[in-house]
Amino acid sequence: MKQQRGQFGSHLGVLMAIIGSAVGFGNIWRFPYLVGENGGGAFLLLYLGITLVIGLPLMLSEFIIGKTAKSNCVGSFKKLKPKSKWHFIGYISIITGFAILGFYSVIGGWTIFFLVDSITGAATTSTELSSQNFDTFINSAWKPAAISLGFVLTVAAIVLRGVEKGIEKTNKILMPFLAIILVALAINSLTLDGAKQGLTFLFNPDFSAITFNTFLDALGQVFFTLSIGMGVIITYSSYVKNEYNMLKTQLIIITSDTVIALIAGIVIFPAVFTFGLNPSEGPTLAFVVLPTLFAQMSGGAILASLFFLMLFIAAITSAISILEMITAFMVEQYKISRRKAIIFPTIIIATLAVLSALSQSDKYTIEVMGLNFFDFLDALSANYLMTIAALLTIVFVGWKMDKSTVRNAFTSNGKYYTMLFPFIRFMIRYVVPLAIAVIMLSKLNII
Ligand code: PFF
Repeated sequence: MKQQRGQFGSHLGVLMAIIGSAVGFGNIWRFPYLVGENGGGAFLLLYLGITLVIGLPLMLSEFIIGKTAKSNCVGSFKKLKPKSKWHFIGYISIITGFAILGFYSVIGGWTIFFLVDSITGAATTSTELSSQNFDTFINSAWKPAAISLGFVLTVAAIVLRGVEKGIEKTNKILMPFLAIILVALAINSLTLDGAKQGLTFLFNPDFSAITFNTFLDALGQVFFTLSIGMGVIITYSSYVKNEYNMLKTQLIIITSDTVIALIAGIVIFPAVFTFGLNPSEGPTLAFVVLPTLFAQMSGGAILASLFFLMLFIAAITSAISILEMITAFMVEQYKISRRKAIIFPTIIIATLAVLSALSQSDKYTIEVMGLNFFDFLDALSANYLMTIAALLTIVFVGWKMDKSTVRNAFTSNGKYYTMLFPFIRFMIRYVVPLAIAVIMLSKLNII
């Protein structure tokens, strides 16, 4: 018996699910610290440019594949180009998915720990305690490992419920909640003394801080934050009904993702400047700097609880999308039930998460290629695998798929933006692949 494929029930559901995937640590944690390290507003401008010129056509390409093939990240390529090797891209996505979830679940676990600690007030009792708290927690080794395991199982339980009842419903409830918390925190930050300085830093471009490496950072960030080069957008868009206006849907997604990252900056920088800290504090920004700041604010425990709840929501909705990408592959490739299909990926992810949680503590040395396991998974996925998969995917759409098929998908069979199609196709065939290739080659020090 042929299994019925899942489908999102409404356009709002599609938007919430894809925005849920896109909005994650990338926006609330990685984006502000990249801005901090790379000259504030100058990085922002670069980031916006890359999002529009490279991010949008890439996301469109994945959408075109998913919407046309209506299959998982491997099956879609097989359907569109049978008897070729292009489906190999899908396998890269699956490996990337495991790598990302391997470290993402650990950070997901940290948000749970900090959420509970903030609710009880433990995270914000004093500045000294807040800064020690993270170190003590990470080094307790098995505790963060166990909590990240809890995170993985929660994600699996949601994905198990299926596309409409599990994924769509969870995102429809959680994402508006995330937006409300974010805006509330931003309003609070704007009332702080350092608000003006923080905003100036975020929006005033300092072009002298831009180097070639800044381009690489910005490109990597765009891939990561939009969940592209991962097969996730292929998978989610395969559950989208055909009649929706694709470009409009994408623009809403990309704008929301960017606006949320900006608001996260508005939450963080005024607070950082008010308390005289350095804006480029690295990844510990969320788990050390912010709790320290919250400890000095009135209502700090409440603000901290809201912040970590928001971070948890951002994390879980992104993690769901990755596990769904892998599960959809398992279900369709091996023709098994969702229940059976989810077991194997969950075990692998749980193992990777435990290893990377342990690798963060001083007690265990778990290293690959000179990096601790956690950093290795991060670097492997964000720096290499996602970029390679993204490049191959766009080449596939630009050069291997029929022009008419791509056109029909983009315009919903001639209904929308037919005039724009030649321009989009030009971007997909020439501009974006070239830009990615140049950036990749220079990253490898070849040019
Ligand atoms: N977009 C997520 C973030 O910004 O945190 C991370 C992510 C989710 C990357 C899903 C890749 C992915 F497939």
